[in-house]
Amino acid sequence: MLSPRLTALLAILIGLYVASRYDLHKTPGVAEALGVPAAALWAIYAPLSHALAGPGQAPVVIVDQAQEVFTARAPFTRHIVAVGDLHGDLGNAQTVLQFSGVVDAFGNWTGDADFFVQTGDIVDRGDDTIKLFDWMEQLRVQAAATGGVVLSHLGNHEVMNAIGDWRYVYPSEIDTFGSVAARQKMLSTGRIGRAWAQNYTATSRLPLHPHLGPPNTPFPPEDHPLHFEKDADAAADESRYYDARAPLSHAALSFVHGGLSPTYSNLAPFPTKINALSAALLRRLQHRAQPPPHPPHPYPGLPHGTTRDEAELYDANGPFWYRGWATDGADKACADVESVLARTGTRRMIMGHTPDFTGIVSRCNGKIIIIDTGISHAYGGALSALSIHYTFTPIGDDAAGEPRWIEREVVSALYVDRQEIIVEEEREVVGDFRFA
Ligand SMILES: *[C@@H]1O[C@H](CO)[C@@H](O)[C@H](O)[C@H]1NC(C)=O
Ligand SMILES: *[C@@H]1O[C@H](CO)[C@@H](O)[C@H](O)[C@H]1NC(C)=O
Repeated sequence: MLSPRLTALLAILIGLYVASRYDLHKTPGVAEALGVPAAALWAIYAPLSHALAGPGQAPVVIVDQAQEVFTARAPFTRHIVAVGDLHGDLGNAQTVLQFSGVVDAFGNWTGDADFFVQTGDIVDRGDDTIKLFDWMEQLRVQAAATGGVVLSHLGNHEVMNAIGDWRYVYPSEIDTFGSVAARQKMLSTGRIGRAWAQNYTATSRLPLHPHLGPPNTPFPPEDHPLHFEKDADAAADESRYYDARAPLSHAALSFVHGGLSPTYSNLAPFPTKINALSAALLRRLQHRAQPPPHPPHPYPGLPHGTTRDEAELYDANGPFWYRGWATDGADKACADVESVLARTGTRRMIMGHTPDFTGIVSRCNGKIIIIDTGISHAYGGALSALSIHYTFTPIGDDAAGEPRWIEREVVSALYVDRQEIIVEEEREVVGDFRFA
């Protein structure tokens, strides 16, 4: 006589087989139709299918099809680690990435983090430019092999170097390239310059939940009327950016080197507008005849043909240089931040550029987080990393049969010898949040 549990299990397996055989799993609601809570079903089914497959084999095929059914109710977690200005110091960068779990003792990607984010200013004030940029590309490839992602940003110092503003370049660092000409080549059309053009952006929008799409999915979404409105016109009414039927619309973070100023003209669509301007400016800089660097030569300035929007991108109010989030009083910053978060489709913004040597700065309850702690020996500040753990856990249905979830986000500052929780937030969310 079969036990009730075994009978239930067999019924489930037969149900799944039938569902997959006739493509029923492509019909929404099939999990529900099977009459068992989907999360519970998945909890039984996933290990079982792994057990059914022999050692070293992939789980039996039905899992892949079943996953489409269960994705909607499976618990989800995401771990993000972010690090600020590194300024030419490989040793301290390795220490930070190691104690934050991004890399192991050999500097290889561990897979502990789903995303590693660096907010720019790897170059200048130190000698390890080549080693640091090469290491970042190595990590990018290793991360991709485990489904992880490295998100790299240009800082004002990367752009300064592309311009020919070499005021903070150490002569000993030029020696690591061989010559001024070799350095100019490497940073323009050479290995490092190509990495900047291909794999670095000025800013990014990183969803906490994959329902929002991959990193840098634009906000407002392309099918939303606000997407086509002039940012300045749309900015007046923040409430227009929120929709009670889309409770995850702002479950995302922004990363940028300096800051996203509330009065900067090209915030939206975010981050696409800024990144397109930055790519265009970088292309201009890298493909002009490289001007003799300043000093001793005069400041070369931006190339002929630079558009007004590109020039504004690089000015003091633009994303590479802005410091208002660090320097404004609390009242002003905490009022202004709401508008920028609303318009960029994010819940907090994370940036480097303005150092506090004692540690990571959180303002307005973690809506503004500044992670430049002077990691490089040029400053001798705190070695730090920001860590974000996001979990999205199903807790059954509401009265109308809609899935209920607990969304939880824990943001911590990590140091060599301690960790501090900056934000710990939890809320209930109702809805059907599918993702591929
Ligand atoms: C890890 O790092 C060591 C030393 O750099 C290297 O020899 C090894 O190949 C790396 N492992 C992987 C998987 O890349
Ligand atoms: C950019 O990153 C990819 C991996 O995502 C890597 O294969 C490629 O070589 C990188 N590009 C450059 C120019 O380094």
